Amino acid sequence: MSTDEWHYLATHVPVLWLVVGPCMVVLLLVGMAWLSSTGWAQRRLSGRRMTRQWPVLAHECGLTLSGWSARTSTRSADVEVVVPYWISTTAHRFGFVARFALLTGQTLEGWQQAGERIAVGWGARRVLIRQDTARSVAVTALMVDPLAQPVPLDTTPLPGLLAVPVGCRDDGSRWVLDLAAVPHWLIVGATGSGKSTLLNALVCSLAPRPVALVGIDFKGGVELAPYAPRLSRLAVDRAEALPLLRALVRLADDRRTLLRERGARSVWDLDDARRPVPVVLVVDEVAELFLDGGTGRAEASEIAGCSSAILRLAQQGRALGIHLVVCGQRVSGDLGRGVTALRAQLSGRVCLRVNDPDTARMCLSDVAIEAVHAAERLDPTRAGLAVVSDAETGWAVARGAAVTLAHARQAAEDTAGLRVPWEQLVPASGHPVAAAGVGGVPELPPHITALLTNAAAEQGAGRG
Ligand SMILES: Nc1ncnc2c1ncn2[C@@H]1O[C@H](COP(=O)(O)OP(=O)(O)O)[C@@H](O)[C@H]1O
Ligand SMILES: [Mg+2]
Repeated sequence: MSTDEWHYLATHVPVLWLVVGPCMVVLLLVGMAWLSSTGWAQRRLSGRRMTRQWPVLAHECGLTLSGWSARTSTRSADVEVVVPYWISTTAHRFGFVARFALLTGQTLEGWQQAGERIAVGWGARRVLIRQDTARSVAVTALMVDPLAQPVPLDTTPLPGLLAVPVGCRDDGSRWVLDLAAVPHWLIVGATGSGKSTLLNALVCSLAPRPVALVGIDFKGGVELAPYAPRLSRLAVDRAEALPLLRALVRLADDRRTLLRERGARSVWDLDDARRPVPVVLVVDEVAELFLDGGTGRAEASEIAGCSSAILRLAQQGRALGIHLVVCGQRVSGDLGRGVTALRAQLSGRVCLRVNDPDTARMCLSDVAIEAVHAAERLDPTRAGLAVVSDAETGWAVARGAAVTLAHARQAAEDTAGLRVPWEQLVPASGHPVAAAGVGGVPELPPHITALLTNAAAEQGAGRG
C-alpha cells in the first residue's frame, strides 16, 4: 500500500484509529513498564528523596550551621539552622556528582570527615569529596563498584604526550600513567595477575603517539614480540639486551651534552624542532636479568653490564626524555644488590596481585603501609586489579583495561609507520654528537617530527 493510500485511510476512515489507537497505548504502557523495571523510575524517585532528605542528613553529618552564627538577621531569631545549598547533580556511569555551596567557616576537610556518613545516608559504596570552586565542594557518589566488571580502554585524547590511559581507578576516573610526571615505573604481579594485559593497554595507548618504543624481554621475547612492528628494537635475552642498553646509555649521554650546549635543563625546555623524540623502554621479566645460572664469568659479566646500564638509565630523571617501564613477578633483594638499586630509582609503582606479602612490601612500602595492605587484599578473582602510586592521593586501587593481545598486536601493526628506526634513534658507536643530526639530535622521519611538534603545541594549549 502506498503512502498516499495510507494517508487517505487515516484521514477518511476514522475506524482505523479504533485499531491503531489502542495498539499505541499498549506500546506506551509496555515501554513505561520496561523503563521502570530497569530501575529508571526508582533512580529518579530516590534522587528526589535524597534531595528532600538532605537537610536531615546534612544536620546529622554536622554540616549545618545553627544557633547565633546561622541567624541571617537580628530579627529572625527563629532561623536556627542553615543547610548547605545543593547546587546541582550530574549523573555519571557509576553514580552521580552533587555540588554543594560551602557555608561560612566550612572547610574541605570538614566535609571529608563527614564522607562516610554521607555515603551511608545515600546508600553509596563510597563518596569522594573535593573542592569544586572556592565556595563549593563536589561530592562524587559511587553507587556501583567501577572495577567490578572488566574495564574498556578509554582512548579519549588527554593533554600531555606521555600521559597514557591504561585503565580505571576505583573512584571511576581514568587511570593514567603519566610518564612526564613520574618518568620510571615498576610493575609487579604474579602469573595471571594481569601484567601482560596491562602492557597491552600501555602499548595501545602509546603506539599512536610520536614516541620511540624499545623492548627488552628477558624471557625469550614471548611477551613483547607481538608489539615488534612498532618497536624500534626488541632484545629477547641478556646477550641482545646488553648492546641495546649500552646504546641507550650513549643516547642519554648525548642528550645530556645537547642540553648543556643549549643551556637547557630538560629536553622539554628545548624548542619543538630541536626536541629529541621521547623514548619508552619496556622491560619484561626483569628478574631473569639478575638470575645467575652459574655458567661462568661471561654470564656474570653480562649480568653486571646489563644491570649497571639499566641502572644508569633509571638514574636519569625526566630531563632526558628516556623512560623505563619495568615489569616482573618479583623484585626482591635476594636477586642481588642490582635489583634493589634499580627498584629505588623506579618511583612509579604498580602492584598487581602478588603471591607473597614480601613482594607487595618491596613494591609499595616506600609509598604507604596502607597501600601494602590494600595490595594484600586485592580480589584474586578480578585479574587486572592493582594498587598504584598516584601523584594526587599517594596511592589508589585501579584496574587495568581489558585489552587483548590481538588488539595490541593490531595497534602495533596499524602504527608501524610511527616506528622510529633504531639507527636514527641512537647514533652508532663512537659517532660524535655533532654529526648525529641538526644540533646533535639525530634526524627523525619528517612525519614523526611533525607529530611531535603538534603534540608539543597541544600540550602547551592544554597547560594554558
Ligand atoms: N585488566 C583485566 N581485566 C579483565 N581481565 C583481565 C585483566 N587482566 C588480565 N585479565 C585476565 O587474566 C588473564 C591473565 O592475564 P595476563 O595479563 O596474561 O596475566 P600475566 O601476564 O600477569 O600472567 C587474561 O587472559 C585475562 O583473561
Ligand atoms: Mg604475562
